[in-house]
Amino acid sequence: MDTLQDRVAVVTGAGSGIGRALALGFAAEGAKVVLADVEEGTLAESLDLVTAQGGEAMAWQTDVSDAGSVAALAEATIERFGAVHVVCNNAGVGGGGLIKDQELVDWKWVIDVNLWGVIHGVHSFLPHLRAADQGHIMATASVAGLVAGPGLGPYNASKFGVVAIMETLHHELAADPDSDVGVSVLCPGVVRTNIVTSQRNRPAELQRSGESAPRADARARNERIAAAVAAGMDPGDVAAKVIDAVMERRFWVLSHPEHLADIEHRNQSLHSLTNPTLPGRWAGGD
Ligand SMILES: NC(=O)c1ccc[n+]([C@@H]2O[C@H](COP(=O)([O-])OP(=O)(O)OC[C@H]3O[C@@H](n4cnc5c(N)ncnc54)[C@H](O)[C@@H]3O)[C@@H](O)[C@H]2O)c1
Repeated sequence: MDTLQDRVAVVTGAGSGIGRALALGFAAEGAKVVLADVEEGTLAESLDLVTAQGGEAMAWQTDVSDAGSVAALAEATIERFGAVHVVCNNAGVGGGGLIKDQELVDWKWVIDVNLWGVIHGVHSFLPHLRAADQGHIMATASVAGLVAGPGLGPYNASKFGVVAIMETLHHELAADPDSDVGVSVLCPGVVRTNIVTSQRNRPAELQRSGESAPRADARARNERIAAAVAAGMDPGDVAAKVIDAVMERRFWVLSHPEHLADIEHRNQSLHSLTNPTLPGRWAGGD
């Protein structure tokens, strides 16, 4: 994209973490920003932060797991700004635990938000991006979309799916003479956000029916993850990498290049048709 000045950027999950940083980052580049999130209070706070910075913006409460809600977001964007140039399908939730301990509602919630959220975003916004003079669509996956470690079954499945969708879209749009739409996928390592409290947005009908208090091993794992996230990368640094990738039309956005060794470790297992093992510093995890 040659400039972000006066372009229209939509960010889902803009009420917190990476999404809030993306909204602030696009506004700082002169874009008009549409902030979308399911959580009304934090969404309003993010809007205030963007407008306090002098940016032109609107907030639209959206549940990305609901096709109609995302379609309404696209309509509201076009109604307010007349076009859309950048779409960041970033909203997501974290859900941990061993596969043997998952209830079907655990799978459903994570897949609904993380995978269907991206599908809905692509479905509703791609026609508008194709109609714009230039466009870019990104989705936030994770390193968990490239390496499947233990303790994150539904999350890994959702993020591998997101990488697959965006990679497919990249190939299709690159071969489409009528499209000037770039594609990126963000695969972050650990970032300092509110992801460990994702349950705050879990719908009542998808709550677990089983034991409400986590078992001691799950509690210990959650505490480890919370400590890692608290020491994670600043979301503003991640947003800056995404904005660079949009400007330079780069597909892969890896916030933590040290994870390339973990991805290579997995690829080696495939290449040599030997059974997967965990990369050194992942072993002993769950
Ligand atoms: N924080 C990390 O370490 C990390 C690492 C890899 C990938 N990610 C991914 O980054 C993305 C952003 O997460 P974050 O870390 O900033 O967490 P966060 O919890 O700070 O922000 C996520 C936002 O998504 C919103 N959201 C949740 N469910 C939603 C729904 N159904 N519809 C609309 N919005 C919804 C939340 O309200 C929240 O504002 C997610 O896709 C996450 O999986 C995060």
